[in-house]
Amino acid sequence: MPQGTAPGRTPHIRGFLYASDACARIAQRLPVIAGSDSSVLIVGETGTGKEICAQALHYLSRRADGPWVAVNCAAVPVELIESELFGHVKGAFTTAHSSRHGLVKEAEGGTMFLDDIDCLPLLAQGKLLRFLQQQEYRPVGCNTVQRSDVRVIAASNRDLRVMVKQNAFRQDLYFRLNVLPVALPPLRERREDIALLAEHFVRQFDQARGGDGRRLSAQALQKLLAYDWPGNVRELRHVIERSVLLAAGARIEADDIAIDPALDADAQAEAPDPAGESFQAAKKRVVERFERQYIETLLALHHGNLTHAAHAAKKNRRAFFELVRKHQIDTRRFNDSP
Ligand SMILES: Nc1ncnc2c1ncn2[C@@H]1O[C@H](COP(=O)(O)OP(=O)(O)OP(=O)(O)O)[C@@H](O)[C@H]1O
Ligand SMILES: [Mg+2]
Repeated sequence: MPQGTAPGRTPHIRGFLYASDACARIAQRLPVIAGSDSSVLIVGETGTGKEICAQALHYLSRRADGPWVAVNCAAVPVELIESELFGHVKGAFTTAHSSRHGLVKEAEGGTMFLDDIDCLPLLAQGKLLRFLQQQEYRPVGCNTVQRSDVRVIAASNRDLRVMVKQNAFRQDLYFRLNVLPVALPPLRERREDIALLAEHFVRQFDQARGGDGRRLSAQALQKLLAYDWPGNVRELRHVIERSVLLAAGARIEADDIAIDPALDADAQAEAPDPAGESFQAAKKRVVERFERQYIETLLALHHGNLTHAAHAAKKNRRAFFELVRKHQIDTRRFNDSP
């Protein structure tokens, strides 16, 4: 398995780590999905782990010893994608000086991962649909039909249903791909995963730099928990990589956590706007944001235990609980933290 292996007791399935209920439910379904040969559609914002999930499916399936072929549909020029996927014969187009196998052939007996499937042009969508229905295809410029036994996993960070309505994505292909859907929530909606993933990445980058046993300080962790992660797990991984490089000692401090302020859309949106709103309104908004983040951070640090979190905040349990209720925070979300 090419992804970093998760240590001992960290819940993971083939490198896909999780602590949140939402991801635990996905992790539970992965072996079931891997046991079938139907197409899978993985959706989720950028950096939520679509590819690592797809790889887990491949390595859990009977095709694990077969090839894993990943194609980024957004990276292949529109006019070449058909021949890239299905191959071509000599002379099929001006630059086809010799015949070439497509990736569908290369993936025979294994899994083909079609990333950014929303970028697949309509013509190629038709060919892919036929392939999914019959395992049959014709290389560009070839009259004879060929067969290949391939499982297809597609991923998209755009809502394909909207594209179907706009006639930019074939509805029949959407239905065919969506037999087994997997939806990865953004990291800000599963904050319970932040600590687990952060510590995992710290270990990974620490080992890569000689294994000095670097650890996150409580303040550094709080800073990570308070941020909204528009770039999701990938952004968290980059931030941790940088912090491991920046940290002078074995302890990674809050100051070593360099979050790109340009990406902190939430903080910008919530910043006071003296020109546009009253002092009272601006203060209320900023205070509410602070309250929610403060409470969520403490709950995450204390695994959802209200008594411990209230104690750390030096508030009585009842007053703390009132705040939790005011912000409609579900404390069970934090129960699974490591
Ligand atoms: N649950 C997870 N456990 C461990 N590592 C993860 C997890 N989710 C994401 N990662 C890591 O975060 C990075 C981004 O994940 P991945 O490439 O799978 O995202 P993606 O959804 O395919 O992003 P994009 O839409 O930008 O292609 C990778 O380095 C991946 O290994
Ligand atoms: Mg990806």
